[in-house]
Amino acid sequence: MTILVTGCAGFIGSNFVHGWLAAHDEPVINLDKLTYAGNLSNLARVQDDKRHIFVKGDIGDRELVGRLLSEHQPRAVLNFAAESHVDRSILGPGEFIQTNVVGTFNLLEVVRAYWSELPEERKAGFRFLHVSTDEVYGTLEDTDPPFAETNAYQPNSPYSASKAASDHLVRAWHHTYGLPVLTTNCSNNYGPYHFPEKLIPLVIINALNGKPLPIYGDGMQIRDWLYVEDHCSAIRRVLEAGQLGETYNIGGWNEKANIDVVRTLCAILDELKPRDDGRSYAEQITYVKDRPGHDRRYAIDARKIERELGWKPAETFETGVRKTVKWYLANQEWVSNVQSGTYRDWISKNYAL
Ligand code: NAD
Ligand code: DAU
Repeated sequence: MTILVTGCAGFIGSNFVHGWLAAHDEPVINLDKLTYAGNLSNLARVQDDKRHIFVKGDIGDRELVGRLLSEHQPRAVLNFAAESHVDRSILGPGEFIQTNVVGTFNLLEVVRAYWSELPEERKAGFRFLHVSTDEVYGTLEDTDPPFAETNAYQPNSPYSASKAASDHLVRAWHHTYGLPVLTTNCSNNYGPYHFPEKLIPLVIINALNGKPLPIYGDGMQIRDWLYVEDHCSAIRRVLEAGQLGETYNIGGWNEKANIDVVRTLCAILDELKPRDDGRSYAEQITYVKDRPGHDRRYAIDARKIERELGWKPAETFETGVRKTVKWYLANQEWVSNVQSGTYRDWISKNYAL
């Protein structure tokens, strides 16, 4: 048996591959286009592992995906591949439509053709698991209950609109063609291999480099943080036991205001790697202009996955964030590796006054 996973040179996917191979002997075919966010050094630990086969390519390349399916005969396809950064989607939405919408459509079509030709028993056991986000539900007021699976989709950014579109395609391929799909909608992840365009790694790395820690607007926007390995264990559980056609919200019940997240990171760094001048990293906090259309609050109601599949996160925010800071301190070579020209260009474009 084999699974085909897409986008697993990125942050969550690479963590998924490590977690999968630690728990299973079942091989993984990893299809990734290696965009700016795809980094083979995330997979260095498994480069000589025969259970991991890396293929460079686009989820929208029907010929390539068709060939991989017929060669490897996977029992499941898990789609992590996406353009994932909200700020980039605001500056250039085209790639988000191309990969997240058109790419997912092409992938669904090739998978449907493969699945429809499988013998009955394998056809019944096959799964297409689509990895999505809580951002499809839009934004919450302070007093609103967290997002449940029954909430209406109200995406507000080009990124979340493109993910919402892909979720709708996945749903329709189940409803219309009977493709055995599962969809997961997860809150903000953090942990090892997180690309430093996103808040938590950006703050850790800027702090250590003596640079400003940029807080958008008033810093009181709320995100619901989940340690990446918990997201990966939830995906494994949904793949194993999820009900066909169902969606599962995944979250850690860890709502935090951005400014509190940044202050927590500063306090951990003050303890583990104090500044040479003995002052706090919090002095580097700098308020900058807000993200256009910035969603105020996300929060996940994770009761369905707990009730139906018995999944719960292993980490609290406090334990997960400490592990994360330690990982970045211990992996400075990985950090220098990702700070390529593309990354530096992006930083100057995004934070230009
Ligand atoms: P990421 O940007 O770190 O990685 C995305 C990966 O997909 C990269 O390796 C990239 O090279 C690859 N990719 C992009 N376009 C591709 C294409 N056309 N064909 C093949 N590969 C392609 O993203 P991430 O944070 O790891 O997110 C993974 C998935 O999880 C995404 O679908 C995202 O929407 C979803 N998600 C992310 C979070 C989060 O907090 N990061 C939370 C919930 C859901
Ligand atoms: O909710 C899940 C989503 O979380 C995923 O679907 C996305 O792929 C992922 O990128 C993430 O989106 P966010 O926009 O919430 O993550 P980001 O790290 O970009 O920002 C987190 C919060 O911090 C957000 O409110 C914006 C703010 N922020 C971000 C950056 C990069 C700042 O205040 N300053 C910054 O420099």
